[in-house]
Amino acid sequence: MIPHYVDIPGFEIVVIGGGGDLATRKILPALFAHHVSGHLSAGARVIAVSRRAIADPDPEHMWRQISPYVRHSDAADQFASFFERISFVQADATTADGSKRIVAALDPSEQVRRVFYLATAPAIFGPVCAALSGAGGVHANAAVVLEKPLGHDLESSRAINDAVGEVFAEEQIFRIDHYLGKETVQNLMVLRFANAIFERIWRADDIDHVQITAAETIGVGTRGQYYDHAGALRDMVQNHLLQLLCLVAMEPPSSLEPDAVRDEKLKVLRSLRPITGGDVDSHTVRGRYEQGAVQGEVVPGYHEEAGVDPARDTETFVSIRAHVDNWRWSGVPFFLRTGKRLWERRTEIVIQFKRVPHNLFRDGAGPQVGNRLVIRVQPDEGIELHMLTKIPGPGGMKHRRAPLNLSFASTFGEDLPDAYERLLMDLVRGKSTLFMRRDEVEAAWSWCEPISQRWAQTGQPAKSYVAGTSGPVASADLVNEVGRVWNEDDE
Ligand code: BG6
Repeated sequence: MIPHYVDIPGFEIVVIGGGGDLATRKILPALFAHHVSGHLSAGARVIAVSRRAIADPDPEHMWRQISPYVRHSDAADQFASFFERISFVQADATTADGSKRIVAALDPSEQVRRVFYLATAPAIFGPVCAALSGAGGVHANAAVVLEKPLGHDLESSRAINDAVGEVFAEEQIFRIDHYLGKETVQNLMVLRFANAIFERIWRADDIDHVQITAAETIGVGTRGQYYDHAGALRDMVQNHLLQLLCLVAMEPPSSLEPDAVRDEKLKVLRSLRPITGGDVDSHTVRGRYEQGAVQGEVVPGYHEEAGVDPARDTETFVSIRAHVDNWRWSGVPFFLRTGKRLWERRTEIVIQFKRVPHNLFRDGAGPQVGNRLVIRVQPDEGIELHMLTKIPGPGGMKHRRAPLNLSFASTFGEDLPDAYERLLMDLVRGKSTLFMRRDEVEAAWSWCEPISQRWAQTGQPAKSYVAGTSGPVASADLVNEVGRVWNEDDE
């Protein structure tokens, strides 16, 4: 379970963009969860900064806004005491004047940890940092949190990192990838490095291939404008999917210290075989949803979504056949896939082991398949190991596949903390293992960039798929043509 934080003497989280979507859906609910659990010390404060005046900053109004996203929805009576921790500042943080107003609202003592959370468009990360520094707001015990997207490509990412780096040292910069805060993602380290049975077979000798899927049923919602300029490759693959791939593929780190873990992840990113030129056409599929029905509900096509420009040909789906060119993974395909408006919400990592070298059983006795380990990231977090097992009773050696199932909810209780809860407290404590280092982000951009460039050059339109399906047919082909199938086609 998550540790207690009551021993933190006091901290201030300054949320720039404090009235925005991220603050409402993620940051404030996560802090409220800690408040309800008694993890926050008396000195923990939130400073919500917004360019516009935050309408009616009273507890009832705010509770109505954030309650749909809080984990303890039955804790409404505790919201008033949480609200007392919040100060509201109306200011444009990119200006000298605005930043002075923000800094004036903060505790001047360097003993108090100060975290600037930039929940804004990345274009203003640099200007905000410069203005806060100019106003004297950045001391040695301060940190800055950057939300993705960290740029649009390698060059813009470098420009952001350079600008923020003018003000904050690398160890003061926390680049969030909320997938790293998910319980099942952290559990990957324990699964691999605390269980001797897996690590010994975690390599090309025994593993046939790996699948990483992040399927969503939602569309772009109110984020059409952002998404239309990003697309699935930048929105999900460059960060979340590649981070998952790193945790699956990395070598055991020498310790759990931030740089030990991040060095190993970086090596994986640098071992990814570049997909360039014509290989992009044969190793990637991009798609876009058309009107359809997702779990019984009719939904519009991507081009009908608010804020979307039909001329842009943005992809809402990507699948990629990737390879990690190193000793451990030589010859093992890694299939990555993500998309919106798919058949179900399912984020999973599938490790497909090789078959036994010789089949002892007569043909038809059962499927001739290898074991499969399925790490269910969400929903219904857990781990399944698919085994071949004899069907009891007569019938000789007839067998079939059956899972050993570790469900986190039934083992540890339903109430798993949200990723942001874990990450927020790590950054208050200055623990950066679960945050991305600059070189990781840039290595991920370097790998993705030739893919997006080729797509732009060839002008091949995204392949359409009907909302509620598993994506374009070409995505199944990408896997089938090398003799594999996506997990759901083989369940
Ligand atoms: C975000 C993306 O980073 O992750 C969204 O910008 C996506 O487009 C979201 O919906 C998915 O997160 P989760 O935690 O719901 O899997």
